Amino acid sequence: MTRPKAKILVDGGDPQETRRVKELLGFVDGQTTNPSLIAKNPHIRELIASGHKLSNKEEMDEYRQIVQTISPLVGDAGVSIEVFSDEKTKAQEMFDQGREMFSWIPNAYIKYPCTAEGLRAAQMSVEQGMRINITLCFSQQQAAAVYAATKGTKQPAYVSPFVGRLDDIGQNGMDVIRNIKQMFRKGDGHVLVLAASIRSLEHLLYCFALETELVTVPAKVLELWASKNFPMPDKPFQYKASGRSIPYEELDLERPWETFDLQHELTRKGIEKFAADYRATLSRTA
Ligand code: E4P
Repeated sequence: MTRPKAKILVDGGDPQETRRVKELLGFVDGQTTNPSLIAKNPHIRELIASGHKLSNKEEMDEYRQIVQTISPLVGDAGVSIEVFSDEKTKAQEMFDQGREMFSWIPNAYIKYPCTAEGLRAAQMSVEQGMRINITLCFSQQQAAAVYAATKGTKQPAYVSPFVGRLDDIGQNGMDVIRNIKQMFRKGDGHVLVLAASIRSLEHLLYCFALETELVTVPAKVLELWASKNFPMPDKPFQYKASGRSIPYEELDLERPWETFDLQHELTRKGIEKFAADYRATLSRTA
């Protein structure tokens, strides 16, 4: 297999699955997790099925154990751990969780949502030298805000644009990746694009063609890639989009981050769903 330039992360919440993918590919560069994926972890599912609901502390302990098992299996793209947040969670609260989670493993990236509070938490984190990953990004404006808010970070920051969820609403999710990559060509390189919400082999191959720095992929898509003997995109690669195209915007990355439009319906819905999936595992509402 020709190892792609893009780092490959497993998008999941089960160490067994990460091990399986590693055997299949011969390497795994990193891992991303989120509250929905953690709620699907086989051990957590067993607990819930047997009628046991977790306390907040038990849920955090389970999450810690999962990422501590995954951590040594992956390479330098690290393990992304997502803070709990809902529409009311303030930056300080997210940052406090993030700081605790950052101490769990030596290769943690802390995931904050792409909202004003999430970006404030990210700013506080990069000032402390923490690695971060801004999740639930659906627009070029949001990615520009991530860039402006994390300027001066000593560690590369990740931004995770979600492809599949944009496809789901009839847009061409891959356009957001292409537009962000084009916009960042004018930047200083401190933000790396981590393509997320990857649902198909075509998504994966187009990410390779666009030279995203990282891509996080569900095990079943990686298994499909392996079953076809690890194809790579032809030059030039033809991507067949089914949704409406998203035009490129000329944006000045030197603007203050608060001046960019952070609103996106899918960011709001994504936070709601992550919070609901997290709460579904708890013995009482958080
Ligand atoms: C990873 O960081 C994201 O949370 C994940 O890719 C989301 O994928 P989904 O849209 O398939 O839930």
